[in-house]
Amino acid sequence: MQPAPLSAEPCILVIFGASGDLTQRKLIPALYDLDRQGRLPAGMCVLGVSRTAMSDEAFREKMHASVKQFSAGFEPAKWESFARRLYYFAGDGASADMFPGLNVRLAALGERHAILRGGGQPNLLFYLSVAPTLYEAIIANIGASGLVSEGKRWCSLNAQAMPWQRIIVEKPFGTDLASTVSLNRALGRVFEEESIFRIDHYLGKELVQNILVMRFANSIFEPMWNRNHVDHVQVTATETVGVGSRAANFYDAAGALRDMIQSHLLQVLAMVAIEPPSVFDAAAIMREKIKLFNSYLPLRPEQIARSGVFGRYTRSAGGDQPSYVEEKGVSAERRTETYAALRLHFENWRWAGVPFFVRSGKSLAAKLTEVVVQFKKPPTDLFRSVDPTLRDRPANRLIINIAPREGISLRIEGKVPGPGLAIQSAKLDLDYLQRFGGEVIEAYGPLILDAVRGDRTLYKHRDEVEGGWRICDPFLNSPELRAGIEDYAAGSWGPAGADHLIAADAPGRQWHNPRPDDVR
Ligand SMILES: NC(=O)c1ccc[n+]([C@@H]2O[C@H](COP(=O)([O-])OP(=O)(O)OC[C@H]3O[C@@H](n4cnc5c(N)ncnc54)[C@H](OP(=O)(O)O)[C@@H]3O)[C@@H](O)[C@H]2O)c1
Repeated sequence: MQPAPLSAEPCILVIFGASGDLTQRKLIPALYDLDRQGRLPAGMCVLGVSRTAMSDEAFREKMHASVKQFSAGFEPAKWESFARRLYYFAGDGASADMFPGLNVRLAALGERHAILRGGGQPNLLFYLSVAPTLYEAIIANIGASGLVSEGKRWCSLNAQAMPWQRIIVEKPFGTDLASTVSLNRALGRVFEEESIFRIDHYLGKELVQNILVMRFANSIFEPMWNRNHVDHVQVTATETVGVGSRAANFYDAAGALRDMIQSHLLQVLAMVAIEPPSVFDAAAIMREKIKLFNSYLPLRPEQIARSGVFGRYTRSAGGDQPSYVEEKGVSAERRTETYAALRLHFENWRWAGVPFFVRSGKSLAAKLTEVVVQFKKPPTDLFRSVDPTLRDRPANRLIINIAPREGISLRIEGKVPGPGLAIQSAKLDLDYLQRFGGEVIEAYGPLILDAVRGDRTLYKHRDEVEGGWRICDPFLNSPELRAGIEDYAAGSWGPAGADHLIAADAPGRQWHNPRPDDVR
């Protein structure tokens, strides 16, 4: 049975961490863009919460400056009405003392915007945009405040009339399996799983959703999308910039594996590798992702170091960017990786024996996020008898570009027109923006709107994040990998060990390393 369509009901978005960087650069500009496109429900408003004392007016002024700078298209005429949706409340979310005052303010805002529901409460969407160390304390305080009644809603006589309460939790979601389980338990004591939105802004990117459309709205890919035809899959996210000032307060304690692979790239991989969901809804897609992560083949300790590579960038020849260990706040002994590459296997009927190579790094040759599906070669080399130079032509390869620009290209072999038999590789290419037009929208806006609608399709389930950590923890904790961390020159494609990793069980396998001017 098809589920009923979800609607965006007005609510108060309560942002903890409202004076911070994420709120200013991403959240409020994204909300403004939604509002100017007429996509925010009437009556919806935002209550920013952080400790800095500020009036509503001062908060609006601060947000005005960031919206001008960071929104996709600032229209002064649309600012005034958006500003009337913004409010501020000064308080310490980690202290229970703040919450009685917050409750009163929320009820007053609900009344002012005429969005009170049964029981005299508005719908509430909490957003944790504070340091992760504060998550559990704030969640516990929200629970103790009595604001959350969602668990009683589904069984009430008129569920539609009752207010809902949901929570969006920013990344990083835990730093390892144990801390993730603890955070999930803290959330579960207060919120229903259906009300928890673990954000991954990568999943808001168009192409990640497009992967599902490409796979399941076309019939030509699925029959090939398996161990019979696919040689291997690469998932890559690289940056040209170094870590810079983020080293001291964040990166040196995190590293590339935690920062990118565990959080984002496993999700991209999942979109490529899941089975077709029975319906296009959050629960069905989540179930498939969980099944995929459950089919991950855990490695024996002695296999870990052979299935991963860590790297750290050094100065490029003549480059002015410092090496990673020279960045302020970096502890060289910690051996934090600015590059990680893993080989993963999923033991299910579709993928048994097909390696998935995942890599991410800083200070590399090009900035891109892409998936490469490398197909097998044809079973016979038919044309070699005509001309030995036609032996061993490259196999088909599908590249799904996610960033900086979205597109899909398929490498095929074609006959060069004219006498004789000359064969060359060529690309069938689809650039989404060029072909379909439309506006690139910052991922945060649509994701927040999904949470307002109660749609978790692009959010992560508890079991998914725990499954992701089960994959990553052994690599993170491997003393051999840490001790063997390799240097790579800034501006290169990463450590030599990564090339050995991909070629280890099939000589000739290579990373797709496009020239910077060949990146879409
Ligand atoms: N910035 C990004 O681009 C980005 C990207 C992805 C994920 N994230 C995640 O988003 C979260 C926020 O990052 P951020 O860069 O915005 O950090 P930030 O600039 O340091 O902001 C943190 C905010 O938390 C507030 N705060 C601190 N203690 C508080 C308390 N006890 N109660 C209420 N508010 C409190 C701070 O304001 P006061 O000092 O006024 O209280 C500030 O507004 C982090 O979990 C981060 O990992 C950020």
